[in-house]
Amino acid sequence: MNEIYEPKFVEKLFDKMSNSYAKVNYITSFGFSERWRRQCVEEINIEKGKTVVDLMTGMGECWKHILKKSDQNFTLISLDFSTEMIHRAEKNKLKFKNATIEVLKENVFDNSIKNQTADYIISGFGLKTFNNKQLSDLANEIDRILKPNGKFSLIDVSVPKSKFIRPFYMLYLKNIIPILGKMFLGSPETYKMLGIYTQQFVNAKNVHRIFERPNFEVEYITYFYGCASGIKGRKIK
Ligand SMILES: C[S@@+](CC[C@H](N)C(=O)[O-])C[C@H]1O[C@@H](n2cnc3c(N)ncnc32)[C@H](O)[C@@H]1O
Repeated sequence: MNEIYEPKFVEKLFDKMSNSYAKVNYITSFGFSERWRRQCVEEINIEKGKTVVDLMTGMGECWKHILKKSDQNFTLISLDFSTEMIHRAEKNKLKFKNATIEVLKENVFDNSIKNQTADYIISGFGLKTFNNKQLSDLANEIDRILKPNGKFSLIDVSVPKSKFIRPFYMLYLKNIIPILGKMFLGSPETYKMLGIYTQQFVNAKNVHRIFERPNFEVEYITYFYGCASGIKGRKIK
């Protein structure tokens, strides 16, 4: 396997970034990351009293969008394998006193979530560090964890198609973000990796192809001229 998709490599990368991730992510996306998380969650109309699973949760950046209607009536199960991200997620939990949030420090490909637990599955920016085999395993896991009729919405940053936006976007991704990474983290290399993953990922069309299965209804979605893309869907049975 190409080293950059090895779980240990990805885990270390996010451990290193955890301290600066929230700031750098917000600044480098001009605040769009927050809007995209909200839009990703809003793609599936989450009803109160249901169980939501947030995969590749990081520090729980998607929680406020998931829990915003009322933080009393949801069960939220969040999973990430980075020790540092999970540590921050545990702290973030304190902001949502009324919600039941379970934080699991686990690899998504070897997790303890029981079959047919979730009414909804969300994942914000957790796709690009997976290769095709892992994306197919992720589809298996989502199929296993979701209840019949359960819904999912997944999003990640993407390379826009437009001839006008694309060159600026690539320059930004490859050169400017590492500089910001150096300013905040002292190392441009770590944030350079996010550019490399995004360049390989391109957009969620490939994820859409992999998730097109007989028991999934799935749709490809783009956000802001294709600067982010994702899929949303439903498990039929
Ligand atoms: C870009 S961050 C996204 C965090 C958050 N969901 C957000 O909206 O910003 C991706 C997260 O996925 C986690 N991750 C990557 N591969 C994973 C795996 N195989 N199992 C569990 N977590 C994983 C990383 O540790 C990292 O925290």
